[in-house]
Amino acid sequence: MRIGIVAWDEEDPDSPELASTGRDLGHDMAVFFLEDVSCRDAGGVLETTINGEPAAGFDLIISRAQIRYEHAQTDHERYALLSQVPGLTVLDPADVYLNAESKFLGLQRLGAAGLPVAPTRCCASAAEIGSALADWGEVVIKPTFGLGGTDVERVRHLDEDRALVDGLLAKYGRLVCQPYYPHPEGDMRVTIVGDEAPLIMNRVPHASSWKANAKQGATANMVTPPPELVEISRRAARVMGVTMAGLDFLPTPDGYRIIEFNNCPGWYPAPEDYRRHLTERVIEIFVSIHESKTRVNGHAHDLRRPVP
Ligand SMILES: Nc1ncnc2c1ncn2[C@@H]1O[C@H](COP(=O)(O)OP(=O)(O)O)[C@@H](O)[C@H]1O
Ligand SMILES: [Mg+2]
Repeated sequence: MRIGIVAWDEEDPDSPELASTGRDLGHDMAVFFLEDVSCRDAGGVLETTINGEPAAGFDLIISRAQIRYEHAQTDHERYALLSQVPGLTVLDPADVYLNAESKFLGLQRLGAAGLPVAPTRCCASAAEIGSALADWGEVVIKPTFGLGGTDVERVRHLDEDRALVDGLLAKYGRLVCQPYYPHPEGDMRVTIVGDEAPLIMNRVPHASSWKANAKQGATANMVTPPPELVEISRRAARVMGVTMAGLDFLPTPDGYRIIEFNNCPGWYPAPEDYRRHLTERVIEIFVSIHESKTRVNGHAHDLRRPVP
């Protein structure tokens, strides 16, 4: 099968690893970026291209695409050009992937589905953050589009932290605001692929940080979490319509709560044998989704064929 992987960026270690596993499993693999996607006139129709070749030459695209904050429209266009190619399976399609980029949208949908999300507010002013502080004590503020713990900040006292609050409000306009849940023993990151949870990490913040992101120096332990966390994560991925997801859970006085839904989970902090298991399952599960889709479409096609 010809499989394309939309990589996050040049430094993304997970996409080349996925490609390498795909090759070992006998597939023809290519890694590219959203920037490599374009379109051209092909006899009256606009044909989607990847590095100048017709995207229709691929069977399956696995997306780990980066939607850049400052170029969201261009990036969306390129992604959607891919999603519109007849017969090409893109997992996940642009609309599904884009919706799952937003922390607000994810938490809203998961909460509405009855899943245990952390209490969350949308704060557009220092006064709103002040009232969250009054209700919750210490809070965390962060951008709705973000990753790696960047611009995720703790606020204890509005007066003392005013410069920080004003700076983030000026940069993003509105912020995700949640109670602060200390987690010196780490979070729980459940990685879902299809209906499976092939990788579960407990990410412990570095001594100099309070954030559980690998980019902030956290270390990862491979663990078996309470079964209900796996079930919640599976349901969360289904609610979002996402094929590969990363659920971030923090311990709270009310049990584990989802603080964030990720559409492009990384696995590079995991040991090699775990990474190998994960990448094999990603390729196998994505291929089987493509195959069952093709079977359904092929069948539908047969039904449309005129009776001789
Ligand atoms: N409400 C919270 N309470 C305590 N820590 C938090 C909270 N929200 C985020 N964090 C910490 O900050 C890290 C990054 O926040 P997260 O919401 O996962 O955004 P992202 O990973 O997209 O930057 C989390 O892994 C966690 O360690
Ligand atoms: Mg996170």
